[in-house]
Amino acid sequence: KAMEIVKEFEESCRTPISKLKQVADAMTVEMHAGLASEGGSKLKMLITYVDSLPTGDEKGLFYALDLGGTNFRVLRVLLGGKDGGILKQQFKEVSIPPNKMTGSSAALFDYIAAELANFVAQEEDDFKPTSGRPRELGFTFSFPVMQTSIASGTLLRWTKGFSIDETVGQDVVAELTKALERQGLEMRVSALVSLCYGLLLSTVYDLDILQLTFELDTVNDTVGTLAGGKYANNDVVVSVILGTGSNAAYVERAQAIPKWHGLLPKSGEMVSSLLIAISKLCYLESAVSVGHYYVSNMVYSSSFKFSCIWRILRGSYSILLSNHVSDMGVINMEWGNFRSSHLPLTEYDQALDAESLNPGEQIYEKVISGMYLGEIFRRVLYRMAKEGFFGDIVPPKLKEPFILGTPVMSAMHHDTSPDLKVVANNLKDILEISNTSLKMRKVIVQLCDIIATRGARLSAAGLLGILKKMGRDTIKEGEKQKTVIAMDGGLYEHYEEYRNSLENCLKELLGEEVSKTIKIEHSNDGSGIGAALLAASHSQYLEDES
Ligand code: BG6
Ligand code: GLC
Repeated sequence: KAMEIVKEFEESCRTPISKLKQVADAMTVEMHAGLASEGGSKLKMLITYVDSLPTGDEKGLFYALDLGGTNFRVLRVLLGGKDGGILKQQFKEVSIPPNKMTGSSAALFDYIAAELANFVAQEEDDFKPTSGRPRELGFTFSFPVMQTSIASGTLLRWTKGFSIDETVGQDVVAELTKALERQGLEMRVSALVSLCYGLLLSTVYDLDILQLTFELDTVNDTVGTLAGGKYANNDVVVSVILGTGSNAAYVERAQAIPKWHGLLPKSGEMVSSLLIAISKLCYLESAVSVGHYYVSNMVYSSSFKFSCIWRILRGSYSILLSNHVSDMGVINMEWGNFRSSHLPLTEYDQALDAESLNPGEQIYEKVISGMYLGEIFRRVLYRMAKEGFFGDIVPPKLKEPFILGTPVMSAMHHDTSPDLKVVANNLKDILEISNTSLKMRKVIVQLCDIIATRGARLSAAGLLGILKKMGRDTIKEGEKQKTVIAMDGGLYEHYEEYRNSLENCLKELLGEEVSKTIKIEHSNDGSGIGAALLAASHSQYLEDES
């Protein structure tokens, strides 16, 4: 009977190429619908307000906070500008205590702000910026956020085991800002005001006064990975996270985002924003010169006047540029919430979903991502146990949800020892099941293979859907376009069978010729660096040191 269960399960998990093509087409259709209007699809296709990616010219000290994967990271990077690259980087990684994932908003944000405050306090001298310019902070927040600018966004809902009701509907940047302030880290009021004070005070005291002031931008981990990937390889246009959760981002033509059009500034608004920029900068000039006059009681030298005028011109130009209508936009698909009647879902998937923290949501994520694969495995094994697979008794540990993590499943799947020792040891250590026969252990490996293969092939189908939408699933005559996909996440990185299955399946779906033009690159921890790079490339700061 237990073997029949495996057979039935295998049958309902089948992913023949014909089915995968249907899934890919459904993904493309949903992408169009999600881009057409808010609420047009289960795929949110979120506008990220990232309309340019790092160029390599970014310079200075930048911090990043990376929240939403298995671990939480704080990092700082010193960027050297053109040809300089990343001069120096440091990071610290901690795990988020489970009680913070379901407690209060303040407790979660205070926890991460405190980690940042400690990390900043340990900044070594060779990281310290040369000017009084505030440090800038990229915040990778890997949950669905409806952004209103690069520096603000409302949490739509939690995913991946986080569940704090009071945060939903709140601006996550504001939540973090409040927590940073509670930690004594000052937040930037406005770049211009800080710059004005910075110039004024550093003139007086010759000090790095704004040492603990931060400017803050926020991005999803997929967007950070896209930016980090692009910095390393200019052909990167898509990014995918396969970790605890799963998601993708890609570069879309502005013309192909109908719902964005209403949000773009009209030319009249651009002229008025230029006027506002100039008047703000004139105010800056007078504030600086008045301050300079009173404080240092020095002659208002012509070189100082020249430098103010130069700043005004450069400032107006950069503010105008920041309002320009770009021809591209990065879209955070939130593909985890994709669903389609073509997805091969089983009774185990349905039960897992019904008993999850977010029933009815993230259906695709629940069959392909790391948080859930081990749990599907446990559910099938439990059912088999009830049919006598392990003898008369059902091992009590098998009843515990999430007791089998995907890393354990991956280790069993990867067991190459002739007597499947790793499988035996894990069954014993985690589930307290001993005396299994080799035949039983082989069945267990087979079960891992069914679950991982279905997940990997379905993610390959999702990728094909994106490539189709971008017109990169075929080779146009005379074109030598290369497409690089930046990938990250523990599942992709550590589960070899999953990774191989995904890559082979994508090749199978694309055919040999097209496959040569598409490459997957592992962007290791690229999302934190990417967020720092985006903070750098979106900085409103005048490059005072140059
Ligand atoms: C990390 C990125 O490498 O991968 C994070 O820096 C991302 O931003 C994470 O969320 C995803 O993988 P996992 O396995 O930690 O969920
Ligand atoms: C979940 C989140 C998404 C994130 C992904 C990978 O799907 O909703 O924002 O990108 O996990 O971490």
